[in-house]
Amino acid sequence: MDDFFSKPMRILLVDDNPNNLKVLSETIQGYGWKALIATDGESAIEQVEYAAPDLILLDVMMPGIDGFETCRRLKANSITQNIPVIFMTALSDTTDKVKGLEIGAVDYITKPFQQEEVIVRLKLHLKISHLTHTLEQRVQERTAELTQSLQQLQQTQLQLIQSEKMSTLGQLVAGIGHEINNPIGFISGNYSHIEEYVKDLLRLVNLQQQKLPYPDLEVEELVEEIDLEYLAEDLPKLLLSMHQGIGRLKDISLSLRTFARSDISSKVEFQIHEGINSTLMLLKHRLKDQGNRPKIEVVTQYGELPPIRCYPGQLNQVFMNIIANAIDAFDDIHQNRSDQDIPYIIMITTSVECQQQAVTICIEDNALGMHPEVQARIFEPSFTTKAVGKGTGLGLAISHQIIVDKHNGQINCSSTCSKGTQFIITLPI
Ligand SMILES: Nc1ncnc2c1ncn2[C@@H]1O[C@H](COP(=O)(O)OP(=O)(O)OP(=O)(O)O)[C@@H](O)[C@H]1O
Ligand SMILES: [Mg+2]
Repeated sequence: MDDFFSKPMRILLVDDNPNNLKVLSETIQGYGWKALIATDGESAIEQVEYAAPDLILLDVMMPGIDGFETCRRLKANSITQNIPVIFMTALSDTTDKVKGLEIGAVDYITKPFQQEEVIVRLKLHLKISHLTHTLEQRVQERTAELTQSLQQLQQTQLQLIQSEKMSTLGQLVAGIGHEINNPIGFISGNYSHIEEYVKDLLRLVNLQQQKLPYPDLEVEELVEEIDLEYLAEDLPKLLLSMHQGIGRLKDISLSLRTFARSDISSKVEFQIHEGINSTLMLLKHRLKDQGNRPKIEVVTQYGELPPIRCYPGQLNQVFMNIIANAIDAFDDIHQNRSDQDIPYIIMITTSVECQQQAVTICIEDNALGMHPEVQARIFEPSFTTKAVGKGTGLGLAISHQIIVDKHNGQINCSSTCSKGTQFIITLPI
């Protein structure tokens, strides 16, 4: 506080009486402060704007606009409103004093002036004004700090939820992938033997028929009963389709394990398309037609992407969130859209941009789109338009965090009501 008074204060004196001005400026200068002078209201207002005094001493009765009007105008201007104003009134004028305080003056002093009293009052109000200013600044700083802490807290919360969600889902998926991998292993391992045995047996039957052209009645009856000719023709076909089935199971198991890759601690090189494909595989059952909702077609147009250094499990989760939202939007449609003939399409396009510096992944649907008010809020944690129990409103908030904070990328959405929605993700290479 002493620091504060060590710099010379600048006091603006506004009075049309030269005598008063002389007495006051001598008092102020005597104290080591600087006195600025104005002789009417209008020039005072002008001077306040550029000279920015620390305090104003204002006479009530002046030619032109009076002290009250001058004060009102100063208080109405955001640049000058916080400078404390003290009125100078005649000792007897009680109404003036009250009126002055009512329109925003902090105090009054009475003529004739008592030098010491003037200085004491000026000091008091300069101090209050300084304290108020400091306090406002502190409040602003603290508010900014608190806002920042709150944001950090929300981010941390999201991260916790995200990793919890991911680890539960990841564990489940990894578990299933692992569980089905073993049976697939032995089915596929035994398959080659079965194929060989069956071929051998058929060869044997064939040979026997040739060498023993007149079998006994019982054998002939059995040959007829089991329709040996058809069996011998059909069996290799069955084996072939089983072989294909085993191939599909292996793909699914691989997809599950690809999806569940949650290399949390460090980034690894990852082929984005594998992630998208494994996600689509997991969502396949939701893409099929569902009674009253037609099937959803997924069209992929993949560019030549290099592998990306990333957290694969997290990126897969982003793809999952966005594609699942699109499917949700299609589920909503058939109640709302009359032209049911338009095919439901999710289009996924990838490409390399900006001279090989970034990849973009665009996921687009032709569902109902969003209203601008909804679109403005989709990345907010807990914002959802879905029924309780159906949506938590975290999907896109988490996706945003994963893309922007964890991968220094961008995620943007553009949506047109009753046309569809497009999400564009950009990731640096
Ligand atoms: N493709 C889309 N078409 C229409 N609206 C969408 C689409 N994607 C997101 N939205 C809107 O954005 C909101 C927020 O999506 P977000 O994924 O964050 O939460 P949610 O899907 O409601 O819940 P969950 O946490 O289960 O994902 C949705 O409730 C929906 O209104
Ligand atoms: Mg969602």
